[in-house]
Amino acid sequence: MPRADFIPLETFQELPEEDMKRAAREFLETMRRRRTVRDFSPRPVPREVIEDCLLAAGTAPNGANRQPWRFVVVGDPEIKAQIRKEAEVEEVAFYKGGKAPQEWLDALEHLGTDEHKPFLERAPWLIVVFAESYGRQEDGSKTKNYYVTESVGIATGMLITALHHAGLVTLTHTPSPMKFLNDLVGRPENERPFLILVVGYPDDDAMVPDITKKPIEEISVFIE
Ligand SMILES: Cc1cc2nc3c(=O)[nH]c(=O)nc-3n(C[C@H](O)[C@H](O)[C@H](O)COP(=O)(O)O)c2cc1C
Repeated sequence: MPRADFIPLETFQELPEEDMKRAAREFLETMRRRRTVRDFSPRPVPREVIEDCLLAAGTAPNGANRQPWRFVVVGDPEIKAQIRKEAEVEEVAFYKGGKAPQEWLDALEHLGTDEHKPFLERAPWLIVVFAESYGRQEDGSKTKNYYVTESVGIATGMLITALHHAGLVTLTHTPSPMKFLNDLVGRPENERPFLILVVGYPDDDAMVPDITKKPIEEISVFIE
């Protein structure tokens, strides 16, 4: 790949220290309002909002700038119904068919999740995130991608943040295995399903588990 042209960094905006502290604190408060929601309203969400959030996700740092992600946005009720049907087959095997180790089921117990996934049909959008394991050139030859999982994870985190910032709620859903998604939404074999992001508004009477986040001492170590 030829060396890129270099341009001055004109997009950086420094904040005075007081503004920086306020911005960091306000963003923390914004993020503390994010919750995973499992009770969705069928209210429509404009496609334009989803597109802007995807573009925000697409700004993510990533290995060698290969941008190894593909977001398949499903609003079609029939495809959503098929995704629900196939996902629930896996979920029945997981929750009821002895596929999940008891330890995993115990860890999920407090969330009250089960094999029923009505939100996959009810929410206006499902964003199926695919990780591109390797690229394809026009002549069909393969190109290597780097740090694919890390890159797609970071982009997905930014997508969740962008959607929350836009006033929407999400559910990160990971039916296991997810390979059926390639067939259902027509993606090639070099793309691996990463997760499904369920996107929309919460139901009026949506409930969430009463959980807490670890304090700073438990999630960080400062070496000064
Ligand atoms: C990679 C990943 C996979 C997840 N898979 C599921 C899932 O399949 N079903 C589900 O109900 N929640 C799933 N979750 C949501 C978590 O249970 C949730 O984020 C966690 O309980 C913390 O709650 P909060 O997001 O409201 O802070 C997943 C989250 C992540 C990050």
